[in-house]
Amino acid sequence: MQQACPRDDFPVIWGLFIDFFAGLSLSFAMHEDIERVLIAEEVIEKRLDVIARRVHDDFASEESLQVVAILKGALVFMADLLRRVPLRLEIECLNVASYHGGTESSGQVDFLDQKLPDVKGRCVLLIDDILDTGRTLAAVSEKLRELGAREVKTCVLLTKDKERAAEVEADYSAFEIADEFVVGYGLDYDGKYRNLPYVGVLSPSVIQS
Ligand code: XMP
Repeated sequence: MQQACPRDDFPVIWGLFIDFFAGLSLSFAMHEDIERVLIAEEVIEKRLDVIARRVHDDFASEESLQVVAILKGALVFMADLLRRVPLRLEIECLNVASYHGGTESSGQVDFLDQKLPDVKGRCVLLIDDILDTGRTLAAVSEKLRELGAREVKTCVLLTKDKERAAEVEADYSAFEIADEFVVGYGLDYDGKYRNLPYVGVLSPSVIQS
């Protein structure tokens, strides 16, 4: 392992000073790309308590509940929501793509997994990050029914207020938002910003550059 080189000729206090400010500028780098916070972390947390309680109450009679989450967008939402649901859950993930790096849906839903979850006879809670055109939730719900799911309930963090290309509504939706491109809390732009703890709108300069 490489050893850090001691700077004998440089007062330690100056080193700490420089490290502190370098760290500060780095730690805010991602947030600087955000023009506007749309849904703050504390607001999301409170709302998740409500959705989790509903899910719990609706499925309390099931011996175990099969959850299917759509990667990668649902990762953060799923993790935070499901830890609030004290039921016996079995969790599967499906790798699906409908955006290919930009801010507009490609209109085509691709199943990227070779192996699809075994949901025969099961009641399934399907989780995604956002309901936009509706194509993804419609395509995945249909696929789960084809695979023999007894019932499919859908759950999303966000629902965009717009006309859908596919006829589908979410059974559980934490927030309704206007029809604009958002990032954070699992949602990405070009693979980045999924780890933002809130939902926000990117600065136009980031999207153009
Ligand atoms: P559809 O149009 O099929 O979209 O309902 C679902 C998938 O599209 C992605 N999506 C977004 N991703 N910001 C994002 O980062 C957005 O505003 C947005 N709208 C849709 C997302 O992956 C979702 O699962």
